[in-house]
Amino acid sequence: MKLTIIGTGYVGLVTGTCFAEMGNNVYCVDNNLEKIANLKNNILPIYEPNLASLVKSNQEKGDLIFTGDLKEALDSSNVIFIAVGTPEKEDGSVNLDYVYNVALEIAEVISHDSLIVIKSTVPVGTAFKVKELIESNLDKDIKIDIASNPEFLKEGVAIDDCMHPDRVIIGAQNDEVFDTLKELYSSFIVNSDRFVLMDVKSAEMSKYVANALLATKISFMNEIANICEKVGANVKNVRLGIGSDKRIGYDFIYAGCGYGGSCFPKDVKGLINTAADNGYEPKILANVDEVNENQKLVLVNKIVDRFGEDLSGLTFAIWGLSFKPQTDDVRCAPSLVIASEIIERGGKIQAYDPKATDNFQQNFDSENIVYENSKYDVLNDADALVLITEWKEFRALDLDELAKRLNQKIIFDGRNIYSPKIRKAGFELYQIGC
Ligand code: UGA
Repeated sequence: MKLTIIGTGYVGLVTGTCFAEMGNNVYCVDNNLEKIANLKNNILPIYEPNLASLVKSNQEKGDLIFTGDLKEALDSSNVIFIAVGTPEKEDGSVNLDYVYNVALEIAEVISHDSLIVIKSTVPVGTAFKVKELIESNLDKDIKIDIASNPEFLKEGVAIDDCMHPDRVIIGAQNDEVFDTLKELYSSFIVNSDRFVLMDVKSAEMSKYVANALLATKISFMNEIANICEKVGANVKNVRLGIGSDKRIGYDFIYAGCGYGGSCFPKDVKGLINTAADNGYEPKILANVDEVNENQKLVLVNKIVDRFGEDLSGLTFAIWGLSFKPQTDDVRCAPSLVIASEIIERGGKIQAYDPKATDNFQQNFDSENIVYENSKYDVLNDADALVLITEWKEFRALDLDELAKRLNQKIIFDGRNIYSPKIRKAGFELYQIGC
């Protein structure tokens, strides 16, 4: 098929590349021409495992074309995906400016009947507004179909998620659209049970509900972790104790120092706003967000309990700055809050992350943090190690190296990855909910 994907952010770039890998002819369009020039040279705006090699090979075989020229792309496509960003506004509502601007641009240059597919995460009703906006700005007799096809990629494993989706949701208004999108996705899906066909609004809603429910599981478990600490129970054991019940499951009930990323925080707030706009005040969702914000402070509170409110004269080694492993993304990362709280109390930081240091530096302005290129260099003369993101390279601890480099044998483990056995080697270990 001949496709256009508008927006070369996480979703657009990964989806476009995967469609090209399956032999479709894909135009990836962005109005950021510097980004397009870089992509043409295989310089990617994000780190995502395996993405760079797929971008390169598909450009070489001519199936993946990066361009700033929307008309050129639309002239050669029948299916157009909108995958531009939908950032959070200051009041927590969703900023749809990019989506609506793209709709206007499409109306200006489109030359034949087309199917417009909304992949961006958008509040219920947006797809219909996009269709209306295009139709009311068209000066030609062109038929526009609209579909909602939300994405469920996880950063760090996005290629695999895209190539092997556990479901593909298609929200549409007629069978022709369902058939076109089913045909497109059939190269990823062998089992047709994985297609979930529905109305457009329910498809839009499903995306928010999936993220909000996953965020709810995490905040729920973080709250349980805090109760576990009070009563002397261990949240890791509790997770094992409840996860075997299929209705609960083991996933997304790991306690930690809070969820981050561009999706959960934004989508929980977005759903709260959609509800409010429609006259409903959600109680659970508001608490999911609040519990998460507080959870980002739990590790800081443990540091303060151990060292006192005044952290001046102390240096903390931070392992992990990205919001989760396998990504360079620091949006809404707990590390931003934890680092700023330490520095506000007079502490100094030496930080290391395998991929996210540059992004963190751009979002965090302080003279009291230095960045190193190795996990061991940050330990030198630090008073404690603070593990924030559970990258694989942090899992196996070389206790001798730690003891040699740290001033004090103290570890704050924000992801519960270390064994309490290290206490036998004289380390103080502080974890979440254990
Ligand atoms: C999330 C969803 O998982 C994807 O399905 C969805 O497509 C995506 O948002 C999106 O809307 O684009 P992502 O933000 O990449 O994906 O990250 P997750 O792997 O879901 O992790 C989110 C956060 O939850 C991380 O900060 C992680 O550390 C935290 N987490 C996750 C926990 O604290 N505990 C857990 O048990 C699981």
